[in-house]
Amino acid sequence: MTNFPKEPGMRIAPSLLAADFSCLEQEVAQVESAGAEVLHLDVMDGHFVPNISYGAPVIASLRPNTEMFFDAHLMIEEPKRYAESFVKAGCDHITFHIEVVKDPVAIVQHIRALGVTVGVCLNPTTPIDSIESILDQVDMVLVMSVWPGFGGQSFIADVLDKVRGLRSRLQPHQRLEIDGGVDASTIEAAATAGADTFVAGTAVFGQADRKAAYTRLLELARSTTDQRVGG
Ligand code: DX5
Ligand code: ZN
Repeated sequence: MTNFPKEPGMRIAPSLLAADFSCLEQEVAQVESAGAEVLHLDVMDGHFVPNISYGAPVIASLRPNTEMFFDAHLMIEEPKRYAESFVKAGCDHITFHIEVVKDPVAIVQHIRALGVTVGVCLNPTTPIDSIESILDQVDMVLVMSVWPGFGGQSFIADVLDKVRGLRSRLQPHQRLEIDGGVDASTIEAAATAGADTFVAGTAVFGQADRKAAYTRLLELARSTTDQRVGG
């Protein structure tokens, strides 16, 4: 397990959603050998988003085969009800959506008590104010740059203002992840705005040469470090 999310530096987090589900073990091994330390796990319940992906048993079956940090993105209506099952399945980090939560402080405390790090996710039009009460408590903020539910959508550049706003508010140890439509043509803008963790489904698993795709994205993200808002 890596020290994500506290260790500084740019990270590409391949999203398993774009992998070949008929051979997940090999798919995960491929991105791990390419150098990826974080595996992004998109869990969809068919209620919060109009799609169903996979759940805790699939994640548990992958856990013994890899050292990667399991970054779970719960696109589900009841994160409090299911968080424990994802931790037991081997997730190292749980991100919930602010749009489904009535008491954000309580859910952050609940997830942290399970022994993992905590992230909060904002849909493309959800404002920073919605997470004001927990902004200094989370390990990571995840900004959606597409509407959640499906891979392969186009990057919504309007969210970059929110990324800049968050970067100016977050502490150095808090990670800022961006998810959706991240590829070689969009990653530099996201990195320059202040993101440090980049979910990439189609742009890694959708490519024939995953190692080349992963390496290129990481290089592009790192190339922006000098232009970053706030350094
Ligand atoms: C969308 C998911 C994303 C998705 C990204 O609901 O949260 O993680 O897998 O896919 P790409 O990188 O193809 O846009
Ligand atoms: Zn995701």
